[in-house]
Amino acid sequence: MRTPQYASLRSLPGGLAARQKIHRILSTGSVVPFAVVEFIEGGGTLERIGGQAQLYDGLPPYMAFSSPSGFLGRQLARAVATDLQLPESLKDWGDDERIAYLFSRGMNLAGNLVYGDLPLQKELDFRGCVPMPAGQKLGHYVDVATELKGTAYGSSAGGEQPKFLGFNEDTGHVIVKFAKRGSRMAELLPLEHLALHILSETGVPSARTAILSSKDYVFLEVQRFDRVGNFGRVGMLSAGSVDDEFFGRRDTWSEFAARCEKAKYISARDAWNIDVMAAFSELIGNGDRHLENISLLVDDEGEYQSVAPAYDILPMDYASIGGGIDPDLNPIKPKVGTIGARPDIWAPAAAAASAFWSTVRDNHLALPATQEMRDLAARNVEVVKAFVAPLVPS
Ligand SMILES: Nc1ncnc2c1ncn2[C@@H]1O[C@H](COP(=O)(O)OP(=O)(O)OP(=O)(O)O)[C@@H](O)[C@H]1O
Ligand SMILES: [Mg+2]
Repeated sequence: MRTPQYASLRSLPGGLAARQKIHRILSTGSVVPFAVVEFIEGGGTLERIGGQAQLYDGLPPYMAFSSPSGFLGRQLARAVATDLQLPESLKDWGDDERIAYLFSRGMNLAGNLVYGDLPLQKELDFRGCVPMPAGQKLGHYVDVATELKGTAYGSSAGGEQPKFLGFNEDTGHVIVKFAKRGSRMAELLPLEHLALHILSETGVPSARTAILSSKDYVFLEVQRFDRVGNFGRVGMLSAGSVDDEFFGRRDTWSEFAARCEKAKYISARDAWNIDVMAAFSELIGNGDRHLENISLLVDDEGEYQSVAPAYDILPMDYASIGGGIDPDLNPIKPKVGTIGARPDIWAPAAAAASAFWSTVRDNHLALPATQEMRDLAARNVEVVKAFVAPLVPS
């Protein structure tokens, strides 16, 4: 893109300087410079990496991806509004608010970038924190879920489901999703745990998870794949932000995978992984396949490394739609969609989906399923079998 010769820097909330440094934390934990950015009048961003300059209309895609979103984003917008003099509702934030947040409070973000010198110092100070001992984890989770006070540190995970971040002795850096016992979401969390476990057994790398429960809550603890040990980090970008930068389509997982394979951003094996995630999702009633639910990992040199392990794959078609309303537990209605007639995809996906629904039917879950869910699972085993029969030559 053309580099402007003269552009005035814009004023930012709280008098934040319009020229800022961005740092990268490597997988070893070392910190290196990543870029210098200038926020210019009219909303553009001028980025300099080494000798290369690039002008973006708004924020660079990695900054858009790092910005607060979802459940945690809404919590922290309320938490910092007074201090930073920003709107309380995340809905009212624009790029200037996102910049103000990232360069003053952006800690423990997704991926490996740290925005500005102040958050970098805070990240280094945080290395002194002691991880949560395994024996105290559940009590801590109950406290955080009850008070939601854990959102004070970190803002990285997007997504709409209630969640918080943690750092444990046994499982390292985690995202913890939680739901009130007896609710539909509480019944779905063990299904997410099962789905990711079965996908990894099928050969699709998937986030490692565990189910914990107390009298009042069910927790799904998800180990972060953008962290290495205590201090190392791995770069990450959602498929959505990659798509916005290079393709501008935001259509389906399979079409995204095909475009990325063609452009050589990902390998044929990674495209297969995404297609199997999509087909398996179709067969377990996971219609929530937006492009924030797959990501690409970025290596220490800034190159695409691979598709990130699978996450957020569960029968979302049965998730509460709000207002205390739960969809009826009717059998899935799978469609071929943009996956097409691909026996190499449908065969492993069907085997995995069939193992998934049989496990639910037989009640071999981390927490017992309701009878209604088991009845549904028994019917879905049959639907999967009938649906894939013409797609998988025997
Ligand atoms: N294991 C992981 N390691 C690192 N980042 C993760 C991991 N799992 C999820 N994320 C990040 O956190 C975000 C939220 O997680 P997730 O999608 O599971 O939450 P959700 O609330 O169920 O989302 P949705 O709104 O799509 O239903 C993801 O979009 C992804 O960026
Ligand atoms: Mg999600």
